[in-house]
Amino acid sequence: MRENSYEVDADILMNPRVWEASGHLSGFTDPLLDCKECKTRHRADNLIQDYDASVNADAMTQEEMVSFIREKQIPCPVCGKSNFTDIRQFNLMFETKRGVTDDSTSRIFLRPENAQGEYVNYLNVMRSMRAKLPFSIGQIGKAFRNEITPKNFTFRTIEFEQMEFQTFCKEGDDSELYQYYKEYGKKFFESLGLPAEKLRFHDHEKLAHYAKEACDIEYQFPFGWGEINGTHNRTNFDLSRHQEYSGKSMEYFDEATKEKYIPYIIESTYGLDRIVLALLFEGLHEEKISDTDTRIVFNIKPSLAPVKVNVLPLMKKKHADKAREIYQRLSKYFMVQYEESGSIGKRYRRGDAIGIPYAITVDDATLEQETVTVRDRDTMEQEIMSVEGLVEFLRRNLE
Ligand code: GAP
Repeated sequence: MRENSYEVDADILMNPRVWEASGHLSGFTDPLLDCKECKTRHRADNLIQDYDASVNADAMTQEEMVSFIREKQIPCPVCGKSNFTDIRQFNLMFETKRGVTDDSTSRIFLRPENAQGEYVNYLNVMRSMRAKLPFSIGQIGKAFRNEITPKNFTFRTIEFEQMEFQTFCKEGDDSELYQYYKEYGKKFFESLGLPAEKLRFHDHEKLAHYAKEACDIEYQFPFGWGEINGTHNRTNFDLSRHQEYSGKSMEYFDEATKEKYIPYIIESTYGLDRIVLALLFEGLHEEKISDTDTRIVFNIKPSLAPVKVNVLPLMKKKHADKAREIYQRLSKYFMVQYEESGSIGKRYRRGDAIGIPYAITVDDATLEQETVTVRDRDTMEQEIMSVEGLVEFLRRNLE
């Protein structure tokens, strides 16, 4: 919805020179060590963080991490002994091969982030859309990382979905935009239903080689604070490197000042799986509804609920045809589920557990008077309304 914003769907397998230019081939590594006793492999920073959450392992050098682990005799989470190898840097990119030869020249990589796909398409987007600075390129797509310790449900996986939004701007406008996107991220999470007290900024002390300013937004998961967004002022590092490695000018001609320069980039990146995980922790409850009864309900905002409406014939034999007709009518506008098996109470509960905001029951009154019963997931209150008015009612309440 933002002006001057364009969407791309870049390649997952790109020319491997892209990853040389970006620095991923040489520097996208995790500090790993092996337990000499049980031969399991661990990330040194995770060992430290899990042992003492108040220590910021990200800010430590490799040597500092080794001495901390030795000094505190941090135990191996698998066998409990403390006898580790030295740290080695382990590249997180997944490799595959293309073409018919099986040598180093055929080596290509699955993208470990969406960002570089947006950077190498910057000229395409700028020229085809006649974009002027500041403008943004966004993408939602998969990223792949050979994480050695995937854990905590979908918090850390080897294949995950990123939503990355890159704003290209003039040097000098960068810090203000950085601040804007940092704050925007927090407001965005609050608008999704994550409570402000469970969100915090974590400004980076140790900056990546390309970054001028960097900050994460963390959510308080039941297993600890974890990053769900990152805002980075990447300067003109990425485009300068792509210019150098591709031999193609990445300069922007500023018509107002008649200058040529390589734009700065403000990156705002969101981990979609982690956000959905946070929404599940926040919204999925077991709720007591009477002295003897409970229900599982997923209180996700109606605008975010994957399925919006549950259409339920009260009695399959009598009401299924009419219910299917209503299902067809509504599914032009909304994601609708049709369910006819089991008691009506059980069907309500199944819908509550996956967060469907509205259940529509089709009964004799629907056949006789064209009215249905609409049940609200959160209040469980029921309201009779005309079939005619359903689309308008749902549109208004789902937005
Ligand atoms: N382009 C910048 C970039 O990729 P990142 O902090 O490495 O930055 C961005 O990743 C977001 O992707 C993180 O904020 C996090 O939410 C998500 N993410 C990173 N690694 C992940 C993993 N292994 N599993 C699930 N989500 C992950």
